[in-house]
Order: sequence, then structure tokens, then C-alpha cells
Amino acid sequence: MARILITSAIPYINGIKHLGNLVGSQLPADLFARYMRARGHEVMFICATDEHGTPAELAAAKAGKPVEEYCAEMHQVQADLARGFRLSFDHFGRSSSQRNHRLTQHFAGRLAENGLIQEVSEKQVFSIDDNRFLPDRYITGTCPNCGNTNARGDQCEECTKQLDPTDLINPRSSISGSTNLEVRETKHLYLRQRALKDKLETWIDSKTDWPVLTTSIAKKWLNDGDGLQDRGITRDLYWGIPVKKGDAPWPGMEGKVFYVWFDAPIEYIAGTAEWADANGLDDAAWERWWRTDKGASDVTYFQFMGKDNVPFHTLSFPATILGSGEPWKLVDYLKSFNYLNYDGGQFSTSQGRGVFMDQALSILPADYWRWWLLSHAPESSDSEFTWENFQASVNKDLADVLGNLVSRVTKFAKSKLGETIPAGGTFGPQETALIADLGARIQVYEALMEQMEVRKAAAELRAIWVIGNEYLQSAAPWSVVKTDPEQAQAQVRLALNLIRVYAILSQPFIPDAAATMMAAMGSEDWSWPADIGAAMRALPAGAAFSVPENLFRKITDEERADWQKRFSGIRA
Ligand code: MF3
Ligand code: ZN
Repeated sequence: MARILITSAIPYINGIKHLGNLVGSQLPADLFARYMRARGHEVMFICATDEHGTPAELAAAKAGKPVEEYCAEMHQVQADLARGFRLSFDHFGRSSSQRNHRLTQHFAGRLAENGLIQEVSEKQVFSIDDNRFLPDRYITGTCPNCGNTNARGDQCEECTKQLDPTDLINPRSSISGSTNLEVRETKHLYLRQRALKDKLETWIDSKTDWPVLTTSIAKKWLNDGDGLQDRGITRDLYWGIPVKKGDAPWPGMEGKVFYVWFDAPIEYIAGTAEWADANGLDDAAWERWWRTDKGASDVTYFQFMGKDNVPFHTLSFPATILGSGEPWKLVDYLKSFNYLNYDGGQFSTSQGRGVFMDQALSILPADYWRWWLLSHAPESSDSEFTWENFQASVNKDLADVLGNLVSRVTKFAKSKLGETIPAGGTFGPQETALIADLGARIQVYEALMEQMEVRKAAAELRAIWVIGNEYLQSAAPWSVVKTDPEQAQAQVRLALNLIRVYAILSQPFIPDAAATMMAAMGSEDWSWPADIGAAMRALPAGAAFSVPENLFRKITDEERADWQKRFSGIRA
């Protein structure tokens, strides 16, 4: 039994996430966590909401709420949706937790003690009417290059020119529109990442089993242009973790907070501490996952994220960890994803284009989405959601292949042989062949799941469902029962056992349907079918089973057309 730590990139607090966000981190992480638990390993699976930064402040202002209240509410909304999608986090934390405050301040203090923090004075735009410093992207004005009157302080989106806020003609605050701006001097902390370059490089070079997508992004940022840049880790904002050196005040940094990307990954650790707190456990309970001097040296740590998050997880966060000089666990394997597109374009949160998590659950249960998303995960390249493809996958894979097998077998068994596992007959050559085929395919499935080859694992699982259908088709117990009832009993017994085995194998992908299948077989034995011969004889003859409710319904053409229209853009 191994100990497996799994984190999913933590979603921003401002707004409900779309299906593209979901499939890029939380959902595949859940698949892996469920699989590893099913194999009997000890798993710690952590996610959280990423709550700090200007976007959260602005979203709260737009909602007319204090930012603390807004974040508390949106955390609850996201937690409920996570539950709705059956994401099996051991804890869904908050980056604004006291645990994260203390740990973030602790790391900053350690970095300072190790000479890795530099104080830098800079000039920044201050909005007198808003009474705050404005981040570059919250200053709007006329582009000096093309005359676009709505250029942002960091870049003009019309002509793509990179800008400094001071380049803008007639600058104004994007928050209030006020032109009452001035440039003020402000002091910030920089993490001296350059000083950690060798350590980071040695560490990344040791990751020979990482996918190229991951290491190439890391290498690019290590070596491109000027190479690794020192990074500002503080901001002049209200909402965030106050800058402190451990427990002590940081002279000159009063009223400032840490940058959201500094504290967010630390929440992986803090979230595990929140888990311990929530379960009445002591610090040792979470430290054994994170401190190699306190039991974590036998932990294997997996991270899941979209490709845009890779630099922060291969360079910035490791720089914090390595720079602390303390024995914290570093990531062992980083699984990253490309993007999921939506029906000929992109998912867009700002334009409300695509299907968002709440909308998805309002039209179909979680398993339908989980199956489609995971079986089309954007791994080797970007992938695309289309309603046609969604309808076809659900109707074929779930309804025709899996659902139909379950309902055909149970209905036939009940009507012809009664509502208990039939005892008669013995397995013949056809059954033996199916069991051998299953055993071989399950081994392939296991290997793919261990390698986090999500799409390929889904395809293998589907193939495992298909061979069950093929067996039934050729064994045809509905004909055999007329001439050889004993043989038909053996066939049905095999098929009912097959349903239980399918429940176990499918559970990481479609947990609700799996639970329904297992309950219908009257069993609670979820042990992995390592010995497939034994697993196909596990249900005791004479025990009761039942016919489950229809597992999956088909999506009609009318529904498809209706949804396509409804989710084409501009969410209210
Ligand atoms: N909130 C970020 C995003 O959605 C991810 C943060 S991941 C963490 O892109 F490492 F910072 F936690
Ligand atoms: Zn321009």
C-alpha cells in the first residue's frame, strides 16, 4: 500500500467555473484519486478556492458585497458544485484560511532569513478617488501606438503592443473611471528566484519521467531571454494575506499583502492542515503528508493543472519550497492539460460562452458529463466539445453499451429465473474465454490509469464494456434458456457478476451509476478484481439482486438543438 498525495490547481473564487476549467484539473485529479483509493492506497486529495487578488475584490464590488462575504458565499457555491460533480476531495479548503495566512507568512519569513528576499522601491499609479494603487491592467487609456481608446495599462488588445501604464494617453481608473491619478512611490518584496536557478535546474533535470509538455515549459522559463526573473511577491491591496515575517511585523510593509500567486500554492499545504483541523486531528496528521522529516518521505505527490499553470508549479512554488531550506515535499509528478474548446470557439468566462458547472448539472446528472469530459480530455492536444459529439458519446457508450447490458441482463434474469443469483450450471469455454479476455484488458486499464492516460483509460474501459455485450450476444441466454436452463443459469450468473465487476472498474469515471449497479447486485464488496476468476464468482448463489432504474437515458435531437442554442453565449 502506497501513500499518495494529490492536489488539483485551486479554482479562482470569482465566478462559477466552466467545463473546460473542470476537465483541466479537478476532474482528472478526482479520477486518479478514486482509482488509487480503489486499489487500496492511502490517498490525500486536496483542493480549495483561490480567493485573493484584484479580480476577487472587483467581483465583490460588482456584487455589492464586502469581499469577505462574497468569498465565503462563492466558496460555498463552488463546494456544492464540486459535490454535485462527485469530486471526492478529502478537503476543499480556502486560500484565505488562517492556516494559509500563517504558512504563507512562515515561508516569507524563512525566505528572508535565507537572504532570498529583496526590498524594491517602485513607482505605481495611485487612484485618489478609489483610494488605492491600481494594478496595470486596471488602468485604461488611449494607446499611443494605434489610438485605441480602450487600451489596458499592460497591453493594447487592438494592436497587441505591450504597454506601461505611463504610456497611456488620458489614463483613467478602470474601476471608477476617475482620471484623478498620480504616480506614487511604493515598496515591494521580490523573491530572488535567480539565486535559486541552479537548484531549480538540478531538480527539474532529475524529473526524467515528466511529460515533455511539462518540462519544456519549465525549461523555457528557466533559460529564455534573461532567464528566470526575480518576482514581486507583494501587492498594495486590501484583500490578501498581510505581509509579515513569520509572526513578526515587516517594517515598511504595513498595509500590504502577499501576491495571490505567492499564497495560492501554499494553500495545498494549508488545505491539508485545514483537513486535520476539520477532523479534530493534530499537526502530525497533516505533516506526515508534507514534511519529509515527519513521515512524508514515502509519499508520492501528484499535481494536476492546465498548461497555463505549469510555470508556477515548476518554478515559482518550488522556489518557495527550496528557498525555505526546510524539508517540505516537492511534487513528484505533474500532469498538465491542454485546453478544451467549445463548439467552434473558446469557452469564455467573460462572455459567458460554453457550459458552466451549475448549468451542466441542471440539465443532466454528473456521470454524463464526467464520462464525456474524461473520455475526451485534452491531453496530447486541445480538444473540442460539440453537442453532436456529446449526444453521440452519451447515447452510444453510456446508454447503448453499458446501460443496455445492465438492464437486459437484470430484466431477463428476473423474469425467467427469479430475483436471486442463479445457482445452476458451470462456466464453459465461452465463459472461460471472456474471463481471460477481461483479465488481460483489466491489466491494460490499470497501467493506463496509473500513467494518468485519461483518454486511453476511458477507451479501454469502454472496450471492457463492449466485450461483455459481445459475450451476451453470442451466448444468448434468452435462447439457451429454452433448451438448456442449467446453462442459461450459469450464463446469467456470469453476467450478474460482470455487472458488479463493471461497477468497480467504472467507479472512478461514473461513480453514481457504479453505486447503482453495485446496490442492484446486492453487494457492498468493492474490492478490486485483482483475481478476475474469483471476482467473476464473487456473488453468492441464492443472494438477492434487483433490476436498477434505467442507468442512462438517451439525449434526443430536440434537446441537443435546444441546448446548443441556449449555451451559445452571453450568460445572464
Ligand atoms: N487559480 C489558478 C487558476 O485557476 C490556479 C492556482 S493553482 C495554485 O489558474 F497552485 F496556485 F494553487
Ligand atoms: Zn494599440
